[in-house]
Amino acid sequence: MLYIVVGGFYGDEGKGKITSYIATTKKIDAIARAGVGTNAGHTVVHDGITYKLRTIPSGFVADHAKLFIGAGVYINEEILFKEIETTGVQGRIFLDNQTGVITEEHIAREKASKHLTDEIGSTCSGSGAAGVDRVLRQLKVAKDYETLQPLLTDVSAELNQILDDGGSVLLEGSQATFLSVYHGGYPHTTSKDVCAAAMLSDVGIGPTRVDEVVIVFKAFVTRVGEGHLKNELDFDETKKRGWDEYGTVTGRPRRAAPFDFDLAKKACQLNGATQIALTKMDIVFPEVQGATSEDQLSENVKKFIVQVESKTGVPVKYLSTGPGSQEVIEL
Ligand code: GTP
Ligand code: MG
Repeated sequence: MLYIVVGGFYGDEGKGKITSYIATTKKIDAIARAGVGTNAGHTVVHDGITYKLRTIPSGFVADHAKLFIGAGVYINEEILFKEIETTGVQGRIFLDNQTGVITEEHIAREKASKHLTDEIGSTCSGSGAAGVDRVLRQLKVAKDYETLQPLLTDVSAELNQILDDGGSVLLEGSQATFLSVYHGGYPHTTSKDVCAAAMLSDVGIGPTRVDEVVIVFKAFVTRVGEGHLKNELDFDETKKRGWDEYGTVTGRPRRAAPFDFDLAKKACQLNGATQIALTKMDIVFPEVQGATSEDQLSENVKKFIVQVESKTGVPVKYLSTGPGSQEVIEL
């Protein structure tokens, strides 16, 4: 089985949470990180411990699974080694020979760009500048670094072999659909395409092998940085509703708006979604806080699910009812 987990709105939908749930409940043999780079921030709460991850796959909590970072992704050596230590995944994490490597110079180049800092609202983690060097064919990749040699492998070959042997692979992206440099609100986007098709290319798996594309929507919409946000609430109203959130990487308060059904429909099209995961259901519908079984659904939640399904044409499969990796109702 090949699962893809992709963000449906502007990021921070809780992909980390859904990935960790699928990884621990579906006998996943390998989790591969696709997407951009260390500009991501994924939160995983497992066994009472909170992990803030920028580069290690959020599915690491499945302690039997091999972890990979694809050739299309940008890593930062310092962040990688720090996260390997905090998550204890030594010996089961691998990088592709050709994974891109971000340097201090890339970070400095982005921080010096007024366009990026003021107009785009970039995290300035160096992923975009590394991407520029990659396109110019002058970026150093993982195989060029002495320190990374023990982690190197051919990620595409390994993942395809696991699938050939009947195993299960989960692809984990970063950012989200409307931050895609092609399909998002350009230029207020990230530096790459981050939709499901691009994720396959990031790790070297062909589109015919995909079984499920799980699209993650939060029960309301948030956005960091600049760019259009339909029906945006002011900060007082956001706080009143309990929808105030702060960025994992930057600490910036996130902008918020109610769930956008039209945007959800477009996101399902752009990714070929086969299943929907709805997160933060407990924030909008407090009566389902911590629920794990279908018979705990309220009438309002059922109504919301019907609305989401009828608008998008895609079934809702997972409801997240709290931050813990097992606080999920599977439908
Ligand atoms: P992505 O960027 O999409 O991967 O999301 P993320 O995992 O990075 O989410 P982020 O770091 O923005 O953090 C979301 C926060 O909400 C984290 O603290 C999660 O533990 C938490 N969270 C995730 N799902 C739920 C949920 O269903 N209910 C509640 N109350 N919290 C959640
Ligand atoms: Mg995030």
